[in-house]
Amino acid sequence: MIEAQPISLISASILAADFRHLEKDILAAESAGVDHIHIDVMDGVFVPNISMGPLIVETCRKVTNLPLDVHLMIINPEKYIEAFQEAGANRISIHIEQNPIVNDTLQRIQKMGCTAGLVINPETPLQAIGGSIAFADFFLLMTVHPGFGGQNFMDETLPKISSLRDKLESRGDKKLIQVDGGISSQTAPACFQAGARDFVAGNSIFNHPGGILAGVKELREAIK
Ligand code: DX5
Ligand code: ZN
Repeated sequence: MIEAQPISLISASILAADFRHLEKDILAAESAGVDHIHIDVMDGVFVPNISMGPLIVETCRKVTNLPLDVHLMIINPEKYIEAFQEAGANRISIHIEQNPIVNDTLQRIQKMGCTAGLVINPETPLQAIGGSIAFADFFLLMTVHPGFGGQNFMDETLPKISSLRDKLESRGDKKLIQVDGGISSQTAPACFQAGARDFVAGNSIFNHPGGILAGVKELREAIK
C-alpha cells in the first residue's frame, strides 16, 4: 500500500518582506494560508551578510501564532539557541558546516521544546550528514548559496533532494525535507517531485506582482 504523503508546507521568508510594515506583511501571509514564518538570521561571518536577531523573532511572536521557523546562518549557533527559543522560535535549524557539535546542539534545541532542523549548503555532500540523520527532526537543503534573498534556484541541488528522500525512505523515516532559495511556482514542482515537502519562499511571496495572497496561491498550486 502506498502511504499518503504529508501535505506540503509553505514557510514564508520575511527577509523579502517590507520592514516598513512587517506586521501587515506577516498577517497577509498568514491569511493567505502559509504554514510557517521563516526568519533568516545571518551574522556576517558564517555568511557574508547581516540580517536579524532575537528581537525580530520576538516582534513576529507578538504578531502571529504561526510557528516561527528560525534559520540560523551563524557560527557557534549553540550560544544563541536559548535566546531564540525565549524570543518565541518554534523551529530552529542549524547548519552542518563549521559545526563540530551539531548533534549535541540539535538535542539541546529539542530539549527546549523546539523542532530541530539540520541545514546543508549546496556544495556540502549529503554524506556529511552521517549519524546526524537520527538527531534532526527535519532537513533543510539549501537551493542557493545562503546569505541573500532573491537568488536564482540552483538546479544542480535537485539530485540531492531525491537522494536524501531515498535515504530517509530506506530508513522508514518520515522526516520532512525543506528547501530554501529561489523557490517559486516555476522551481517548486521539481523540488516536490524530488521529495521536498516544505517550501521556504521569500520573493515569490512578498514581492509577487499580484500581491502576497496571489504569491501564496500560485505557490500552493505548484506543490500539490
Ligand atoms: C537565503 C535565505 C532564504 C531567503 C530566500 O540565505 O536562507 O530563506 O530568504 O529568499 P528567496 O525565496 O527570495 O530566494
Ligand atoms: Zn532561510
